[in-house]
Amino acid sequence: MQTLSKMPPASSAGLSPDNYTFLQQYLYRESGIVIDCGKSYLLESRLLPIIKAENLSTINDLCRLLRATAPPALKTKVIESLTTNETLFFRDSNVFDALEKSVLPQLIEAKNDIKRINIWSAAASTGQEAYSLAILLAERGLTGWSIQVLGTDLNQQVLDRAAQGRYLQIEVNRGLPAKYLVKHFTRVGLDWQLSPTIRSMVKFRQLDLRASMRGMAPFDLVFCRNVLIYFDVDTKKKILAEIRSTMRSGSLLVLGAAETTLNLDDNYVRVPHGAAAFYRLP
Ligand SMILES: C[S@@+](CC[C@H](N)C(=O)[O-])C[C@H]1O[C@@H](n2cnc3c(N)ncnc32)[C@H](O)[C@@H]1O
Repeated sequence: MQTLSKMPPASSAGLSPDNYTFLQQYLYRESGIVIDCGKSYLLESRLLPIIKAENLSTINDLCRLLRATAPPALKTKVIESLTTNETLFFRDSNVFDALEKSVLPQLIEAKNDIKRINIWSAAASTGQEAYSLAILLAERGLTGWSIQVLGTDLNQQVLDRAAQGRYLQIEVNRGLPAKYLVKHFTRVGLDWQLSPTIRSMVKFRQLDLRASMRGMAPFDLVFCRNVLIYFDVDTKKKILAEIRSTMRSGSLLVLGAAETTLNLDDNYVRVPHGAAAFYRLP
């Protein structure tokens, strides 16, 4: 891990330099996420609810507990609190425009003989990405086809929410075209519930992206967006290689706008589709 060798800031309010290093290493070991120096505020604000719930006085008390015999549930809560789960429906219009206009039509044509499409939303968070893909495919009216979208994440808490397919008004306001809200959601109290049809196309399960992906279904399309940015170079390389093992010739990988395979894995070929870049396995 490259950044851990840097010294933590000398004056981190509350959190001691020793415990700062401990939390950096702890998070890296459990998730692969690299927290740079100078992020005391982030650690403290994210862990505050746990500190309160455990009746602890300070973040240093929490570190003491984690260093000793903290129950596994507490360890999980700490890691889950430190993952960034920001996501939204149809995130990055360049990608979804390309999917709608060229990538999905080409994929459907290529799969017309077997009528089966497998998609993986790795780092799915609360599910908006996986459901956006399912909605786009449902819109194609592919009667008689088997369409499966798998959503995975390290964080079980966000996956539980994803599996419910129920979203707040503020969440459907972000990115979801009104025509899809009207067609695929129903109002439940103040929330919006996705239709059983769309939900039945998507399954969620926990997966650490650093784990071996052997045995996962060959995917035609893999979305691994806005998660590689949290890892160091070695971890990114390992994950990109593992993802390759779940793809077949012609499958496409989609990364976040700030992510690339360049200098990490030469086996992917960058294919521009409109303003978006896809990475194809030759
Ligand atoms: C910023 S969200 C990205 C969500 C979605 N892909 C998007 O672009 O909108 C990053 C997700 O990566 C997950 N994550 C972090 N480390 C992970 C790991 N080692 N394995 C699997 N998922 C991880 C987090 O829990 C979080 O939900």
